[in-house]
Amino acid sequence: AESTLGAAAAQSGRYFGTAIASGKLGDSAYTTIASREFNMVTAENEMKIDATEPQRGQFNFSAGDRVYNWAVQNGKQVRGHTLAWHSQQPGWMQSLSGSTLRQAMIDHINGVMGHYKGKIAQWDVVNEAFSDDGSGGRRDSNLQRTGNDWIEVAFRTARAADPAAKLCYNDYNIENWTWAKTQGVYNMVRDFKQRGVPIDCVGFQSHLIVGQVPGDFRQNLQRFADLGVDVRITELDIRMRTPSDATKLATQAADYKKVVQACMQVTRCQGVTVWGITDKYSWVPDVFPGEGAALVWDASYAKKPAYAAVMEAFGSRSHHHHHH
Ligand code: XIL
Repeated sequence: AESTLGAAAAQSGRYFGTAIASGKLGDSAYTTIASREFNMVTAENEMKIDATEPQRGQFNFSAGDRVYNWAVQNGKQVRGHTLAWHSQQPGWMQSLSGSTLRQAMIDHINGVMGHYKGKIAQWDVVNEAFSDDGSGGRRDSNLQRTGNDWIEVAFRTARAADPAAKLCYNDYNIENWTWAKTQGVYNMVRDFKQRGVPIDCVGFQSHLIVGQVPGDFRQNLQRFADLGVDVRITELDIRMRTPSDATKLATQAADYKKVVQACMQVTRCQGVTVWGITDKYSWVPDVFPGEGAALVWDASYAKKPAYAAVMEAFGSRSHHHHHH
């Protein structure tokens, strides 16, 4: 049995990752857990469009490189997040449209992937392009208004920019097959595979609510895998109304176990990334007021019940003293 979550995941050839914020790398309690428990890293914000191309044509990789270098120096792989997205666009991009925006998107993908060529094994090429309105269709955005082919242009550009990188489509609310959004993304991936648009993987963000892990999550992952793409859980957190209590934390632990088990039961599910380490720094309370406590370590860096649950799901015990 292994004694860290990353090592437990690695027993089956999978990874356990976390989002890392460059601004927290000076917090030794944070970096101690980060370096010990994970073998994959995603930059929480530092490789997004506003961070990497603050002025058109002027790239800035200082914060992205801080996360990248920390990860590599600590023996971790890096997922790239994210190249084309309606959100966290720099002001100059928000004001563009039409063919100018389309070209700016292409230039951005080439600039960022060029900088990290050969260094980043997998990229979220396009993030959150589908609508939550129940139609299964695309989200309205300045990128979408450049033409419905913007997603495939992004993927073709990315393949040419770094042919060795695995190219993912990443979204939330696609964990449950019965949701229209899930089927919209599924139909796009199927179409891309049929027409030879280069796509290698789908990321299921999995920003979930305690007690609401979709019962068909494993089957859903398998359906996508059966299209010929790898799948991965990319931004897992399981939030609750705060304050937490023992009952909610137990349910949350069971939920974490279900999610990791779903990945373990799908051969093409290559790993699970949680969207942060400690409840102290989670994005959840900022966007869902009154909710939080969504991660595996609490705000004081104590392991929550979810820790042992994830360890079990990866096939290890969470303590050192067990009998053979
Ligand atoms: C979030 C970050 O965690 C926050 O720090 C930031 O203010 C907003 O973005 N889906 C994604 C992530 O793909 O990039 C988002 O990250 C969370 C939702």
